[in-house]
Amino acid sequence: MKRLENKVALITGATKGIGETTARLFADEGAKVLICGRNDADGQRVEAEINAAHGAGTARYFKLDVTSMDNWKEAIDFAESQFGKLNILVNNAGISYPENVVTTTPEIWNKVIATNQTGVFYGMQQVIEAMARTGEPCAIVSTASVDGHVGDELYFAYCAAKAAVEAMTRCAALYCANHKLDIRVNAVAPGYILTPMAEEDARQNGKTIEEYCADCAELHPIGRLGRPDEIAKAYLYMASDDASFVTGTTLMVDGGYTAR
Ligand code: NAI
Repeated sequence: MKRLENKVALITGATKGIGETTARLFADEGAKVLICGRNDADGQRVEAEINAAHGAGTARYFKLDVTSMDNWKEAIDFAESQFGKLNILVNNAGISYPENVVTTTPEIWNKVIATNQTGVFYGMQQVIEAMARTGEPCAIVSTASVDGHVGDELYFAYCAAKAAVEAMTRCAALYCANHKLDIRVNAVAPGYILTPMAEEDARQNGKTIEEYCADCAELHPIGRLGRPDEIAKAYLYMASDDASFVTGTTLMVDGGYTAR
């Protein structure tokens, strides 16, 4: 049996990178998927490709900016109207800017916190009622980072937001358990993964992607960057009933980065 048979999943930032890979993997595993993102062309492409592979109606695209509470409500309503319910939320959308404690402007701070922290809060808060309505096991998975565990001089706001994701995960998990809601809440903390975000980081730091990969590989005892599918598989574990006794925790998927 497929691991997400009869489940409906909403995935943010699903038009590229780790989120896109996750949408495809979840559909492979039997889920109906709501591909959320801000780029219509990419969203419609991913929707069409998943539907071509798995049948019409497997995937739908919805334009969601995670920093808007109203937009979250619309996305959840859309998921329920299209698929009849919502079992899984993957809070994957994120942004980063290479700015330290001195160079981080209020604008950059607010943008990073709005997307990487407040967006996760809105998602967690808004899905709980819809998930409770299903009467089925549900799961929220949010994306943390190794940067929530170790300092990185260049990513001041990003580190702050990613550490907060883990704190919010613990608090929301306790809320759901204490209120007898069948909703598990967990996080996945990736090491460096080769995605468009990595390409953008390389560009912002004035490096070619080859230089960036060589420098980053050294940080991971396994000796390379991770692949998007290696994070998508961790989301899959946390989202599936295989993790039925797992809540309030963060799974490091970082090639040993934080083991040193
Ligand atoms: P990416 O840049 O390839 O994809 C991020 C997605 O989030 C994009 O589709 C983007 O449009 C979307 N997004 C950004 N702001 C948004 C907003 N306000 N509303 C809706 N969508 C928005 O990045 P990647 O690498 O796939 O990252 C996915 C997650 O993994 C992020 O949370 C990131 O912080 C995290 N992560 C990535 C690492 C890496 O090395 N690539 C390392 C550790 C964590």
